[in-house]
Amino acid sequence: MPITPTDQIWMNGKMVAWDDARIHVLTHSLHYGMGVFEGIRAYDTSRGPGIFRLTEHIERLHNSAKILMMEIPYSVDELVQATKATVAASGLPGCYIRPIAYYGYGEMGLNTMPCSVDVAIACWPWGAYLGEDALTTGVRMKISSWTRHDNNTMPPAAKTTGNYVNSSLAKIEAVKAGYDEAVMLNPHGFVSECTGENIFVSRHGKLITPPLADGALEGITQSAVMTIARDQGFDVSLGQLTRSDLYIAEEMFVCGTAAEVSAVNSVDDRTIPCPGGMTKVIAEEYGKAVRGQTDRYKDWVELAS
Ligand SMILES: Cc1ncc(COP(=O)(O)O)c(C=O)c1O
Repeated sequence: MPITPTDQIWMNGKMVAWDDARIHVLTHSLHYGMGVFEGIRAYDTSRGPGIFRLTEHIERLHNSAKILMMEIPYSVDELVQATKATVAASGLPGCYIRPIAYYGYGEMGLNTMPCSVDVAIACWPWGAYLGEDALTTGVRMKISSWTRHDNNTMPPAAKTTGNYVNSSLAKIEAVKAGYDEAVMLNPHGFVSECTGENIFVSRHGKLITPPLADGALEGITQSAVMTIARDQGFDVSLGQLTRSDLYIAEEMFVCGTAAEVSAVNSVDDRTIPCPGGMTKVIAEEYGKAVRGQTDRYKDWVELAS
């Protein structure tokens, strides 16, 4: 998806012009994939741009870094403030936000301990990741031939740049085969998630979403959806799923910051009722929550200024 430039990017404590936010070709993380990042959205609310669950995203960034033994030289609070300043400076009513921490220029080699850590935060306008009609007509999914990382191969709780080689391989394979998105199975054959979304499946009227232990990122949207689903009286839990559960699902949706709540209409050409009744209600409530329109969830929205 093409990027629309904004005026400024926050880099290591300073705002720099979009075109000046450059790095050296020998930047360490470019070579070895040891960067950590977040994807966050700000929405147009009646009180100005509201950033959805900003503090939790920055906490996850810090946790990802902790797993890599990377020391981010800014506290959670400093990065929360920097993110708000970046969004406010853009003048956009809503946007996608990309904070990234990476090992910078100066060292080469796999021991990252001597490397300096650089941090940048950019934002730009971004539409629906899986298409504007992802809720109404749904997305076509394919089970990937690529396996999600084992917990002892690449830690799924860490949102590292390197982890996304696996996701990109699966995404390209799915798109080239004419599908919209891929479902990743873990090395034990259980469903973990999609290339950039968590997955929810309804079986016997109950919603199930795979846990971190099965290779899923602990999604912030996943957690919001579970709260919304329970508040709507739906039965929802973390649980193991096989590919057969997907083929005979009563309804299915995927969710994430970029994809929001997107319905699934088929998996490997087995049709799934779409959009399902629970999917529609959850998508609608999620849409209101992110825009600060639901009192119950108002703490989830942090104003940019
Ligand atoms: C692999 C993967 N799983 C799940 C998600 C959903 O996470 P979140 O809802 O926190 O954006 C994402 C998006 O960041 C992702 O990249």
